[in-house]
Amino acid sequence: MARLRIALLASALALAAFAACRMGRTTIPEGADRPFDAMDRGQKAAFMAERVLPVMRETFQAFDPQRFASVDCATCHGPNAEARVYAMPNPDLPTLDPRGLYRKHRKDPAQHAIADFMWRTVQPTLARTLGVTYGPNGRIDCASCHPHDPPP
Ligand code: HEC
Ligand code: HEC
Repeated sequence: MARLRIALLASALALAAFAACRMGRTTIPEGADRPFDAMDRGQKAAFMAERVLPVMRETFQAFDPQRFASVDCATCHGPNAEARVYAMPNPDLPTLDPRGLYRKHRKDPAQHAIADFMWRTVQPTLARTLGVTYGPNGRIDCASCHPHDPPP
Protein backbone atom coordinates (compact mmCIF):
# COMPACT_ATOMS: atom_id res chain seq x y z
CA MET A 1 0.00 0.00 0.00
CA ALA A 2 2.63 2.49 1.08
CA ARG A 3 4.73 1.60 -1.90
CA LEU A 4 1.76 2.04 -4.22
CA ARG A 5 0.98 5.42 -2.67
CA ILE A 6 4.60 6.53 -3.13
CA ALA A 7 4.57 5.34 -6.74
CA LEU A 8 1.33 7.24 -7.39
CA LEU A 9 2.72 10.34 -5.73
CA ALA A 10 5.92 10.09 -7.74
CA SER A 11 4.05 9.84 -11.03
CA ALA A 12 1.73 12.71 -10.03
CA LEU A 13 4.79 14.83 -9.25
CA ALA A 14 6.42 13.83 -12.51
CA LEU A 15 3.27 14.82 -14.38
CA ALA A 16 3.10 18.11 -12.52
CA ALA A 17 6.70 18.82 -13.43
CA PHE A 18 5.98 17.84 -17.02
CA ALA A 19 2.96 20.17 -17.09
CA ALA A 20 4.32 23.24 -15.41
CA CYS A 21 8.05 23.65 -15.10
CA ARG A 22 10.54 25.25 -17.28
CA MET A 23 13.74 23.26 -16.73
CA GLY A 24 17.43 23.86 -17.39
CA ARG A 25 19.05 27.22 -17.97
CA THR A 26 20.21 29.55 -20.69
CA THR A 27 23.98 29.61 -21.17
CA ILE A 28 26.67 29.87 -23.80
CA PRO A 29 26.86 26.21 -24.83
CA GLU A 30 30.10 24.28 -24.63
CA GLY A 31 32.05 24.70 -27.86
CA ALA A 32 30.46 28.04 -28.77
CA ASP A 33 31.29 31.70 -28.17
CA ARG A 34 27.70 32.95 -27.91
CA PRO A 35 24.24 31.69 -26.91
CA PHE A 36 22.55 29.43 -29.45
CA ASP A 37 19.85 32.01 -30.10
CA ALA A 38 22.48 34.62 -30.94
CA MET A 39 23.96 32.47 -33.74
CA ASP A 40 23.04 33.08 -37.37
CA ARG A 41 21.83 30.15 -39.46
CA GLY A 42 25.33 29.27 -40.69
CA GLN A 43 26.70 29.24 -37.15
CA LYS A 44 23.77 27.11 -36.02
CA ALA A 45 24.42 24.65 -38.84
CA ALA A 46 28.10 24.37 -37.88
CA PHE A 47 27.23 23.98 -34.19
CA MET A 48 24.67 21.29 -35.07
CA ALA A 49 27.30 19.36 -37.04
CA GLU A 50 30.11 19.71 -34.49
CA ARG A 51 28.25 19.42 -31.21
CA VAL A 52 24.59 18.48 -31.54
CA LEU A 53 24.74 15.61 -34.01
CA PRO A 54 27.41 13.54 -32.18
CA VAL A 55 25.66 13.89 -28.80
CA MET A 56 22.19 13.16 -30.16
CA ARG A 57 23.40 10.26 -32.30
CA GLU A 58 24.80 8.60 -29.20
CA THR A 59 21.60 9.39 -27.27
CA PHE A 60 19.24 7.89 -29.86
CA GLN A 61 21.47 4.87 -30.46
CA ALA A 62 21.70 4.11 -26.74
CA PHE A 63 17.88 3.96 -26.70
CA ASP A 64 17.38 1.82 -29.82
CA PRO A 65 20.43 0.83 -31.89
CA GLN A 66 18.30 -0.84 -34.60
CA ARG A 67 15.75 1.91 -35.19
CA PHE A 68 18.43 4.59 -34.95
CA ALA A 69 21.25 2.70 -36.67
CA SER A 70 21.86 5.81 -38.72
CA VAL A 71 21.34 9.25 -37.17
CA ASP A 72 22.12 12.34 -39.21
CA CYS A 73 20.66 15.80 -39.86
CA ALA A 74 17.68 14.21 -41.67
CA THR A 75 16.68 12.18 -38.59
CA CYS A 76 15.43 15.40 -37.02
CA HIS A 77 15.19 17.80 -39.96
CA GLY A 78 13.76 15.43 -42.59
CA PRO A 79 14.91 14.45 -46.09
CA ASN A 80 14.19 17.95 -47.49
CA ALA A 81 16.00 19.78 -44.73
CA GLU A 82 18.17 21.83 -47.03
CA ALA A 83 15.26 22.99 -49.21
CA ARG A 84 13.37 23.94 -46.04
CA VAL A 85 16.46 25.74 -44.67
CA TYR A 86 16.34 23.46 -41.60
CA ALA A 87 13.14 25.09 -40.33
CA MET A 88 11.57 23.28 -37.37
CA PRO A 89 9.21 21.62 -36.59
CA ASN A 90 9.85 19.00 -39.27
CA PRO A 91 6.61 18.02 -41.10
CA ASP A 92 8.01 14.52 -41.80
CA LEU A 93 8.23 13.55 -38.12
CA PRO A 94 5.22 11.77 -36.55
CA THR A 95 2.37 14.20 -35.77
CA LEU A 96 1.68 14.30 -32.01
CA ASP A 97 -1.59 14.78 -30.16
CA PRO A 98 -0.69 16.92 -27.11
CA ARG A 99 -4.04 16.50 -25.31
CA GLY A 100 -3.88 15.12 -21.78
CA LEU A 101 -0.11 15.63 -21.65
CA TYR A 102 0.35 13.45 -24.74
CA ARG A 103 -1.89 10.73 -23.27
CA LYS A 104 -2.48 9.10 -26.65
CA HIS A 105 1.26 8.45 -27.07
CA ARG A 106 2.00 7.64 -23.43
CA LYS A 107 -0.83 5.07 -23.30
CA ASP A 108 -0.07 3.42 -26.63
CA PRO A 109 1.97 0.27 -25.82
CA ALA A 110 3.87 0.69 -29.08
CA GLN A 111 4.82 4.30 -28.28
CA HIS A 112 5.04 4.38 -24.50
CA ALA A 113 8.78 3.70 -24.27
CA ILE A 114 9.80 6.12 -26.97
CA ALA A 115 7.49 8.86 -25.63
CA ASP A 116 9.14 8.44 -22.24
CA PHE A 117 12.59 8.56 -23.83
CA MET A 118 11.66 11.77 -25.69
CA TRP A 119 10.42 13.42 -22.52
CA ARG A 120 13.09 12.25 -20.08
CA THR A 121 16.13 12.11 -22.34
CA VAL A 122 15.82 13.75 -25.77
CA GLN A 123 14.43 17.10 -24.58
CA PRO A 124 16.89 17.64 -21.71
CA THR A 125 19.92 16.37 -23.64
CA LEU A 126 19.24 18.57 -26.64
CA ALA A 127 18.50 21.58 -24.41
CA ARG A 128 21.71 21.07 -22.43
CA THR A 129 23.72 20.78 -25.64
CA LEU A 130 22.17 24.00 -26.97
CA GLY A 131 22.44 25.79 -23.59
CA VAL A 132 18.71 26.55 -23.46
CA THR A 133 15.74 25.71 -21.22
CA TYR A 134 13.23 22.93 -21.92
CA GLY A 135 9.80 21.70 -20.93
CA PRO A 136 6.38 23.14 -21.68
CA ASN A 137 7.36 26.73 -20.85
CA GLY A 138 10.95 26.31 -21.91
CA ARG A 139 12.80 26.88 -25.14
CA ILE A 140 12.85 23.21 -26.31
CA ASP A 141 9.75 21.04 -26.15
CA CYS A 142 8.03 18.37 -28.24
CA ALA A 143 6.93 21.04 -30.73
CA SER A 144 10.56 22.00 -31.38
CA CYS A 145 10.71 18.92 -33.60
CA HIS A 146 7.23 17.37 -34.10
CA PRO A 147 4.15 18.73 -35.86
CA HIS A 148 1.08 18.72 -33.56
CA ASP A 149 -2.62 18.11 -34.16
CA PRO A 150 -4.42 19.77 -32.49
CA PRO A 151 -1.87 22.57 -31.94
CA PRO A 152 -0.29 22.58 -28.45
C1 HEC B 1 18.43 15.60 -32.56
C2 HEC B 1 17.77 16.38 -33.55
C3 HEC B 1 18.62 17.24 -34.46
C4 HEC B 1 19.68 16.86 -35.25
C5 HEC B 1 20.31 15.48 -35.36
C6 HEC B 1 20.09 18.03 -35.97
N1 HEC B 1 19.30 19.08 -35.62
FE1 HEC B 1 19.41 20.98 -36.36
N2 HEC B 1 17.95 21.59 -35.11
C7 HEC B 1 17.22 20.76 -34.27
C8 HEC B 1 16.24 21.55 -33.57
C9 HEC B 1 15.22 21.04 -32.56
C10 HEC B 1 16.39 22.88 -34.03
C11 HEC B 1 15.57 24.10 -33.61
C12 HEC B 1 16.11 24.63 -32.31
C13 HEC B 1 15.34 25.87 -31.96
O1 HEC B 1 14.25 25.75 -31.42
O2 HEC B 1 15.86 26.95 -32.26
C14 HEC B 1 17.47 22.87 -35.00
C15 HEC B 1 17.92 23.99 -35.67
C16 HEC B 1 18.81 23.97 -36.72
C17 HEC B 1 19.16 25.10 -37.54
C18 HEC B 1 18.59 26.51 -37.38
C19 HEC B 1 17.29 26.60 -38.16
C20 HEC B 1 16.70 27.97 -38.15
O3 HEC B 1 15.52 28.08 -38.53
O4 HEC B 1 17.37 28.92 -37.77
C21 HEC B 1 20.03 24.67 -38.48
C22 HEC B 1 20.66 25.49 -39.60
C23 HEC B 1 20.26 23.25 -38.23
N3 HEC B 1 19.50 22.86 -37.15
C24 HEC B 1 21.10 22.46 -38.97
C25 HEC B 1 21.39 21.12 -38.67
C26 HEC B 1 22.38 20.35 -39.38
C27 HEC B 1 23.21 20.85 -40.56
C28 HEC B 1 22.39 19.10 -38.80
C29 HEC B 1 23.29 17.91 -39.11
C30 HEC B 1 24.71 18.20 -39.06
C31 HEC B 1 21.41 19.13 -37.72
N4 HEC B 1 20.83 20.37 -37.68
C32 HEC B 1 21.13 18.06 -36.88
C33 HEC B 1 17.39 19.41 -34.11
C34 HEC B 1 18.37 18.65 -34.71
C1 HEC C 1 15.03 16.90 -30.99
C2 HEC C 1 13.85 16.52 -31.70
C3 HEC C 1 12.74 15.84 -30.94
C4 HEC C 1 12.11 16.27 -29.79
C5 HEC C 1 12.40 17.51 -28.95
C6 HEC C 1 11.08 15.30 -29.53
N1 HEC C 1 11.10 14.32 -30.48
FE1 HEC C 1 9.85 12.70 -30.56
N2 HEC C 1 10.89 11.96 -32.17
C7 HEC C 1 12.00 12.57 -32.74
C8 HEC C 1 12.56 11.68 -33.72
C9 HEC C 1 13.79 11.95 -34.57
C10 HEC C 1 11.75 10.51 -33.73
C11 HEC C 1 11.94 9.27 -34.57
C12 HEC C 1 11.16 9.37 -35.82
C13 HEC C 1 11.53 8.20 -36.69
O1 HEC C 1 11.45 7.05 -36.25
O2 HEC C 1 11.89 8.45 -37.83
C14 HEC C 1 10.71 10.73 -32.74
C15 HEC C 1 9.72 9.81 -32.45
C16 HEC C 1 8.72 10.01 -31.50
C17 HEC C 1 7.62 9.09 -31.25
C18 HEC C 1 7.37 7.78 -31.97
C19 HEC C 1 6.16 7.94 -32.85
C20 HEC C 1 5.88 6.69 -33.65
O3 HEC C 1 4.93 6.76 -34.45
O4 HEC C 1 6.60 5.70 -33.51
C21 HEC C 1 6.87 9.62 -30.25
C22 HEC C 1 5.61 9.04 -29.61
C23 HEC C 1 7.50 10.89 -29.88
N3 HEC C 1 8.61 11.09 -30.66
C24 HEC C 1 7.02 11.73 -28.89
C25 HEC C 1 7.66 12.87 -28.46
C26 HEC C 1 7.23 13.66 -27.31
C27 HEC C 1 6.01 13.37 -26.44
C28 HEC C 1 8.12 14.69 -27.20
C29 HEC C 1 8.17 15.77 -26.13
C30 HEC C 1 8.28 15.26 -24.76
C31 HEC C 1 9.09 14.54 -28.27
N4 HEC C 1 8.79 13.44 -29.01
C32 HEC C 1 10.18 15.38 -28.46
C33 HEC C 1 12.50 13.82 -32.44
C34 HEC C 1 12.11 14.60 -31.35
